[in-house]
Amino acid sequence: MSFNWPLMEDNVTREDLDVLIAFLQGMPRLTQSENVRALEREWSEWVGVRHSVFVNSGASANLITMAALKHLYGGGEVIVPTLTWVSDVSSVLQNGFTPVFVDINPRNLCMDEDQVIAKLSDKTRAVFLTYVQGFNGLSDRLLAELKKRNIPLIEDVCESHGATFKGRRLGSFGLASNFSFYFAHHMSTVEGGMVCTNDDAFYDAVRMLRSHGMVREAQSQDLRARYAGENPELSPDFIFAFPAFNVRSTEINAVLGRSQLKRLDANNARRTENFQLFLSRIDPGKYRTDFDTEGSCNYAFNLVLQKPDEALRDRLEQAMRANGIEFRRGSAGGGNQLRQPYLKGIVPDGAYKQYPEVEHIHFFGYYIGNYPSLAAERIEELCRVLNAVE
Ligand SMILES: Cc1ncc(COP(=O)(O)O)c(C=O)c1O
Repeated sequence: MSFNWPLMEDNVTREDLDVLIAFLQGMPRLTQSENVRALEREWSEWVGVRHSVFVNSGASANLITMAALKHLYGGGEVIVPTLTWVSDVSSVLQNGFTPVFVDINPRNLCMDEDQVIAKLSDKTRAVFLTYVQGFNGLSDRLLAELKKRNIPLIEDVCESHGATFKGRRLGSFGLASNFSFYFAHHMSTVEGGMVCTNDDAFYDAVRMLRSHGMVREAQSQDLRARYAGENPELSPDFIFAFPAFNVRSTEINAVLGRSQLKRLDANNARRTENFQLFLSRIDPGKYRTDFDTEGSCNYAFNLVLQKPDEALRDRLEQAMRANGIEFRRGSAGGGNQLRQPYLKGIVPDGAYKQYPEVEHIHFFGYYIGNYPSLAAERIEELCRVLNAVE
């Protein structure tokens, strides 16, 4: 028997494509324009922030967020998780910050709060928290500590659209937050990302960084006037404030995003039900089920072996392959980042051993797709297959 269980199904629907076709039939402008602006407004309202900046990927959101942090707050250390996507660390490195790694909390797969607090210092420029696969990683204690020490929180919500802490959407707590709209996420613009912030200066920096560092992108008249005044020999249309990037997206992607956003809440409710059903059916003797799911909103089924049993792991992988169940070992980002070649020479050899919780996920943790179209019986059948592995 084969399930044909891909990581993601139908994330761009017939309905989305019809909306796009109707849009194209009007012979519209396709470069960033009113649909991008409308998506940014609608997204800000949905997250609960003042500003959003649409870009061409979640990795680009990470990149220009770290660039804006550097521009406005200067260099230093950024606290990052060992379990995250590569761009959360590479964006830190590319902007000249020193990454300081912390292990994960096995109950929410996000950074361990005690370790974050222990590693804060005068050199810390930000805590760059990834909400791994729909789990909330915030607590009152962490927020209070960061506030007391005046250290910005940057939230990576790329894997957790719609998850909440105390009823408020993640992505609305920090100095800035990042989202991805890649195909496998809660909502898709095919490729795409968003930077959100409540801070006007951060907003202007990110707008400029998205478009070549162009000063005319800034909303602040004072900022534009200052640059124009300081550079009277330059055309005000072409003042480039700093070396930057072009990470803009297009109207096509924004039209898809606006169509998708309309059903995001309903889809997320289904995903949350699916995940609860999954956790209630998998065998807690074999797999971890004690996740902290309060406020979570997961596009994945997290399957983590209780014990580091390599033989059981191999049989589990065999069973998943035989049944057509697509999976990713090491969770979404491929497990412990410190084992990756891009960090060779940057972190000491063997440093990965100091992070036992992420090491367990690296070798014995998986994710399987969780999407709205899954029927309850299929999830129950999936759990029977997983539980039958001995
Ligand atoms: C936590 C996290 N941050 C950033 C990204 C990068 O997003 P994108 O694939 O849109 O570049 C991802 C990607 O999946 C991610 O999981």
